[in-house]
Amino acid sequence: MINKRPNILVIDDAFCVRQSLQFILRDKYNVLLAPGALEGQFHLSSHHIDIVLLDIRLRGTDGLKLLADIKQRFPYIEIIMVTAFASLETIRKAIRFGACDYLIKPFDKNELISVVHNALMQRENKLGIKNELDMLKESTLYLEHLIRNAKDTLMNSSENNLTAMLLNIDSKDGYTWSHVKRVTKLSLLIAEKMRVSDEQKQWLKCSASLHDIGKLNIDTTILRKESKLSDKEYEVMKKHPEEGVKIIHPLPFLKNAVPAIKHHHERYDGEGYPSGLKGKEIPYMARILSVADAVDSMMNSPVRQSPCEVGRVERELLSNAGLQFDPEIVDIVIRGRLLSFV
Ligand SMILES: [Fe+2]
Ligand SMILES: [Fe+2]
Repeated sequence: MINKRPNILVIDDAFCVRQSLQFILRDKYNVLLAPGALEGQFHLSSHHIDIVLLDIRLRGTDGLKLLADIKQRFPYIEIIMVTAFASLETIRKAIRFGACDYLIKPFDKNELISVVHNALMQRENKLGIKNELDMLKESTLYLEHLIRNAKDTLMNSSENNLTAMLLNIDSKDGYTWSHVKRVTKLSLLIAEKMRVSDEQKQWLKCSASLHDIGKLNIDTTILRKESKLSDKEYEVMKKHPEEGVKIIHPLPFLKNAVPAIKHHHERYDGEGYPSGLKGKEIPYMARILSVADAVDSMMNSPVRQSPCEVGRVERELLSNAGLQFDPEIVDIVIRGRLLSFV
């Protein structure tokens, strides 16, 4: 519905055409007149124009180029081309450049009124759609903002709960809390050298922090045992990666951490657990965790009589490269002298 008197700009170098157009349209519309492109551009910049009636053959100006310029600057102004020489090719070009309709001189009064009315309706529709799209865009942004906030709140409260779980394991074995912190640090140092994306680093951090969460479901006597585990006890201990997956499974937003948690005890030669994956079948985050986990157990495990010094750990890594560990990750750790940072 049109509420106000629309502004119509007539750009035509023929005085009599401008006058006759104004005479017909002035009862219903505000009509501004421009004899050339320059005056037309001035009106466009200083008034809120709804419709332009534009002469295709303006003296000294390419009407089609002016049409394209106006559409580029004011995409929601509808333009009706006015011409005395209507070749099909020219009309086709005008439509392609964005004109909504055309009038051939001399035009009939009723035809002019009808074409202008249709152009105004077309403009109203386009503006209506634009407003709806703008509102939709705004609602989408607001919804995204709400989802982001909800996710952050969920992550924070879950992180607190998971930290509480890790501290619970730590209270059983007095080791897990500091162990996961060191494993996380070395894993991220390795990832940095591998040029892993920031998002993947976040998931690696999350996986490293939670890699032993499954120990929550392992009997305390096994966790606290300082001497070597019996075969039976070792079989129980070997269940902790899959127990970890069970614990975080109900938290779907942590699903990207599952592969590394599940497979951090796989071996590069396929002799590991729980799935016996081999080489690059093992998710790369699990291959990183496997090295970081082993390094920390060699350097800090309370079960060992004396912790290994850096040189010995490096020799162990090298002799197990391609057997227990991914040789490329071992190479990154040795070349980058990463053990001096943990
Ligand atoms: Fe583990
Ligand atoms: Fe571990």
